[in-house]
Amino acid sequence: MKGIVLAGGSGTRLHPITITVSKQLLPIGDKPMIYYPLSVLMAIGIQDILVIVRSGDRGMFQSLLGDGGRLGLNISYAEQEQPRGIAEALLIGADHIGADDCALILGDNVFHGTTFARIVQREARELDGCTLFGYQVNDPHRYGVGVTDPGGRLLAIEEKPERPRSNRAITGLYLYDNEVVDIAKNIRPSARGELEITDVNNAYVRRGRAKLVELGRGFAWLDTGTPESLLQAGQYVRTLEERQGVRIACLEEMALRMGFIDAANCHALGESMAHSSYGQYVMTIARELSA
Ligand code: G1P
Repeated sequence: MKGIVLAGGSGTRLHPITITVSKQLLPIGDKPMIYYPLSVLMAIGIQDILVIVRSGDRGMFQSLLGDGGRLGLNISYAEQEQPRGIAEALLIGADHIGADDCALILGDNVFHGTTFARIVQREARELDGCTLFGYQVNDPHRYGVGVTDPGGRLLAIEEKPERPRSNRAITGLYLYDNEVVDIAKNIRPSARGELEITDVNNAYVRRGRAKLVELGRGFAWLDTGTPESLLQAGQYVRTLEERQGVRIACLEEMALRMGFIDAANCHALGESMAHSSYGQYVMTIARELSA
């Protein structure tokens, strides 16, 4: 399975911060936002990842992540010239996807939960068509909203409905089989001029090939789109990290746990950041897991 992180968009709700800095590079806790979606793809076991960024932002992401080699990944980059919608990521990424399945994740989506990795791994393994992840929110009109029958079967998805028919938001992690490229090629821009991911997902729903997996109340799916929600996400992450002494979305740790790198390499990555508590944590993890 190939991975795509869409880290485009102009982040206008975070102006003036995002005038010069890409939203997905802003800190959540002690690490850049894009670490969180990247760690989700890594937890699925994906090593081949395309990062799609806003036009002109490529250099900053490249300085941060390079070609991914030190994490045992193969990261490539592409630019989205205009914010023409999430589904455009599937067109920009068509060559990268090739004949494979694909996991698309939005660069500003933060997921957390102890069993989350296990769930996404299972769903990737059992993928048949498209798999979406639903999460209960109290402001569904801001998201794609799933409409289900009483048995929980997905009937349709409505994008930012004025009167939501449920409070089940469709999160920004999408698993697709290879048909997605053809589907994406055939959708047309919406009234707001974007290629909507919801139109892609509804094409799968119409074919009876969309599955909705509920992330229950034991999970966190956090918003990062406004100054308030960005701060809240940071506080959530720091609270858990300080209380438990473990880190969420530490890419070096994830690479080690997934067997993408060995403990010696992991330790060296920590050492290169030894002045920060993040770097110290990476070194500690490398020592613990090599023991
Ligand atoms: C997008 C999608 C929406 C989804 C959301 C998840 O909205 O269009 O369906 O629920 O991401 O983050 P946007 O954040 O682009 O407004």
